[in-house]
Amino acid sequence: MSLRSLLTTAATAGAISLNAAHAAPSAADLNFDANHYVKREVELRGQRITVRAYENIVYVAKPVDASLQAMNIYVPDAYFRGERIGAFTAETAPIFLPNQVGGYMPARPGSLDGAKMPGPPNRPNTIAEALLRGYIVAAPGARGRTNQNAEGRYTGKAPAAIVDLKAAVRYLRFNDARMPGNAERIISNGTSAGGALSALLGASGNSADFEPALRALGAAPARDDIFAVSAYCPITNLEHADAAYEWQFDGVHDYKGISISMLDFKVERKEVAGTLTADQIALSNALKTQFPAYLNSLALRSPDGRALTLDAQGNGPFKDYVKRLLIASAQQAQAAGQPVGATAGVKLEDATVRDIDFAAYVRGMARQKTPPAFDALDLGSGENDLFGTEQVKARHFTEFSLANSRIAGATRADAQTVRMMNPLSYLGAAGATNAAFWRIRHGAADRDTSFAIPTILALTLQQQGRPVDFALPWGVPHSGDYDLDELFAWITQITRTPAAER
Ligand code: DHB
Repeated sequence: MSLRSLLTTAATAGAISLNAAHAAPSAADLNFDANHYVKREVELRGQRITVRAYENIVYVAKPVDASLQAMNIYVPDAYFRGERIGAFTAETAPIFLPNQVGGYMPARPGSLDGAKMPGPPNRPNTIAEALLRGYIVAAPGARGRTNQNAEGRYTGKAPAAIVDLKAAVRYLRFNDARMPGNAERIISNGTSAGGALSALLGASGNSADFEPALRALGAAPARDDIFAVSAYCPITNLEHADAAYEWQFDGVHDYKGISISMLDFKVERKEVAGTLTADQIALSNALKTQFPAYLNSLALRSPDGRALTLDAQGNGPFKDYVKRLLIASAQQAQAAGQPVGATAGVKLEDATVRDIDFAAYVRGMARQKTPPAFDALDLGSGENDLFGTEQVKARHFTEFSLANSRIAGATRADAQTVRMMNPLSYLGAAGATNAAFWRIRHGAADRDTSFAIPTILALTLQQQGRPVDFALPWGVPHSGDYDLDELFAWITQITRTPAAER
């Protein structure tokens, strides 16, 4: 938005009444109305900022569910006075796009009133943190796997959530001239299923695969590629995640998990623990043997050019590479005063991490999931539910689980839907615009998916010349947004990188 039109807006816009701001959103009009806001004071760690809150903006003309296909947009008030925040102005401020998705479940737009979705109790208010640093924040909701309409049809199965996030991006770009912030600097953020969708959003920019679904929703006519991706513990590459899990937890038969269920946006956690049965051990063995062939088919190389392969037993340079990431993480923690010597498998000498025994380390972690970790044979996983249809609650999405299904009449998701949920389908692919910058974090204590999954994503990006900031932070379980100072420092750095150096 130009400074002049912003200042004009500021002069003409009075504070509007709460009633007006909370009236039912008008879906048909995709033009952003800068005058339609409420002022909010945001206070964090003794710092205060006044923002204009544009809430429940429906981002498609023909919503299926207007409470979910909506976003909350927050703009620092200073930008309407022609002021700067740090290096940013109303024209240059990047747009931070934190999706709220967890568990591939329905997500309401993100709000200043705190995280509505699963996560640790003291999860930071990422939206407030971004606003204090001068970002425009657009926090979209999205449909999820359990949504049903009045007729009982499912309305949020794959690929609904990614279609919705793309529609949100299109809305922001369509309205770039009417809104503070630079829609060519959209930085997506998400955790777990939300991390997977963040990566998919960054990979699949402008792909024609999503066009029919976007058109059906009445998405704004604009591009949907984004500038950068932040993904925490992305639960992605689902069709290979079962094999990757068994490769990592090879021989680990004890499981200790948390079963999470969500009802009406309330999260319930239940501890489950046990030992794999003989049948499950047989499944584990069958799945783990699939992984080397898949991994080798990717022809991955380390940043220094070494071929990262695996032998038939699952050993070799790729495993060594993952181990080196863990060693680097442990060393960094040790140097930062977080002792690592007591962790199973870590070989420490004179405060230096000499080695990590991978098998001992993963045994110490214990597995969280039973095989197959994602495409459950009883169709009971969240991912089975994700791959349902309007009329079918849950489907398989791998050949292996279909062949071994315990459910009579179970079916498998069509290849195109599975493809459309995997960012790897779009990296370097014709017809897709990939985000320029990537930051991927997956905690070294995260057992929700294999370390191989984010590592494959990061290596694929690197091989295609995309800068990737990737790490497995030490001791960190399945979670996100735990290092916001570093995240925002990264964003500052990438938004300063001239186009020629990308
Ligand atoms: C999430 C966690 C999982 O273990 C999974 O399989 C899918 C999603 C999540 O936290 O979003």
